[in-house]
Amino acid sequence: MAKVKTVFFCKECGYESGGYMGKCPACQEWNTFVEKKITNEKTKEVFTDRSPFNMKKAKKIEDIESISHSRVKTGYNEFDRVLGGGIVPGSLVLIAGDPGIGKSTLMLMLSGSVSKQKKVLYVSGEESESQIKMRAQRLNITGDNLFIYSETSISDVLSQIEEVNPSYVIIDSVQTLYDSEIDSVPGSVTQIREITATLMKLSKQHKITVFIVGHVTKDGGIAGPRVLEHMVDTVLYFEGERHMSFRILRCVKNRFGSTREIGVFEMRDIGLVQVENPSQAMLTGRPLDTPGTAVVCTMEGSRPMLVEIQALISNSNLTNPRRMSTGFDYNRVSLLLAVLEKRAGFKMYDADAFVNVIGGIKIYEPAADLGLAAAIISSYTNKVIPHDYIFFGEIGLTGEVRAVSGIEKRINESVRLNFKNIVVPYGNKDTVEAAFGKNSKALDGVEIIYINNIQMLSF
Ligand code: TYD
Ligand code: MG
Repeated sequence: MAKVKTVFFCKECGYESGGYMGKCPACQEWNTFVEKKITNEKTKEVFTDRSPFNMKKAKKIEDIESISHSRVKTGYNEFDRVLGGGIVPGSLVLIAGDPGIGKSTLMLMLSGSVSKQKKVLYVSGEESESQIKMRAQRLNITGDNLFIYSETSISDVLSQIEEVNPSYVIIDSVQTLYDSEIDSVPGSVTQIREITATLMKLSKQHKITVFIVGHVTKDGGIAGPRVLEHMVDTVLYFEGERHMSFRILRCVKNRFGSTREIGVFEMRDIGLVQVENPSQAMLTGRPLDTPGTAVVCTMEGSRPMLVEIQALISNSNLTNPRRMSTGFDYNRVSLLLAVLEKRAGFKMYDADAFVNVIGGIKIYEPAADLGLAAAIISSYTNKVIPHDYIFFGEIGLTGEVRAVSGIEKRINESVRLNFKNIVVPYGNKDTVEAAFGKNSKALDGVEIIYINNIQMLSF
């Protein structure tokens, strides 16, 4: 009889232990431990006879083959950039996002594109083969190397992978697959953890690149929770507002490159279209003579992107005025309102404040503070910010405007999009003068306005 070993693990974070624990030492959650039996039979089946892990020996670092040069281009620049230059063969990539955001569309387009070079198996547990075919026709995807398989049992999927022998496998979605040997429903943490572990072995042993699609829960975590994130090589979030057309592909973990890059797509009726000039796209349709709107430049990885921020400040009839923020960190908005009240004398305590970043974009960077402050002041005073003004700077608690990184790229992008008055932190003056010459000679017709405190902000 097969030897049975019992382990316990935390269903929240995946921490493993030999015995039951009431509180998880890793994530501090209570009552999250569940029992799992591991039989050698199962292990043998999944690992087949090519078990690389057991036979490995330590190697000299000089002898190890580098994988940095073997990236495969996907045919989508925006996707390649997020991955750090293309797909690393044999990697395990998680694409997470809200339901309906476009993950399946993105994966199908990617499959169509990479199947021009190598075999792709697209496994869907959500749609039937003919539904996928319909979508593929709509997206104009064809090819002899693209295989579609609609199935939810992992063992059937594995046997198809063995038969088809693809270089790329797409699993859409991990929540719909199940392992019949595991005593729990599809989508449960135990199932997801087991399925991902199986896929990880598959990718590492057979050098198959596996993309796993994962739905995100309402509170923003990848369902099944964080167990997936630490098992995979790369985690990408596909985000955006569902009823808006822009989609951002953001890398949050990457064992093979930077995590700061983003890719910008637009959802159209012909599928996802790459947005190569996001600044231009984000500013299209901007109201020019209205108070309460300002333009900022955020740096996403190596790429500057201009974005419009809108604020609406109005008298409140409520005891607790309303504060709402879309696309900008709520706490940061509250903080900026407090700074504007205390340091610049704007009475915000009895005002409703609404903040919105246009295009369904999320801004994480403090360098957008100054622009948000400008939009708030503009709405409060009902004074229009001239359309060729742009702001970058982080605001501190004393109202000081602090230097930002990548100032040269931000200025270049602003100039490229015809902004003539660029308000920047005083702390960046030396860098700006070093890059563009004293009095910014290189920037013909553009005025750089240096400020070091929020009180100096004027337009
Ligand atoms: P989908 O890829 O199914 O989302 P997910 O897999 O993340 O759940 O895409 C869902 C939405 O995308 C759907 O509501 C319609 C829209 N869509 C388009 O606007 N254009 C298209 O060409 C396609 C295929 C989908
Ligand atoms: Mg889908």
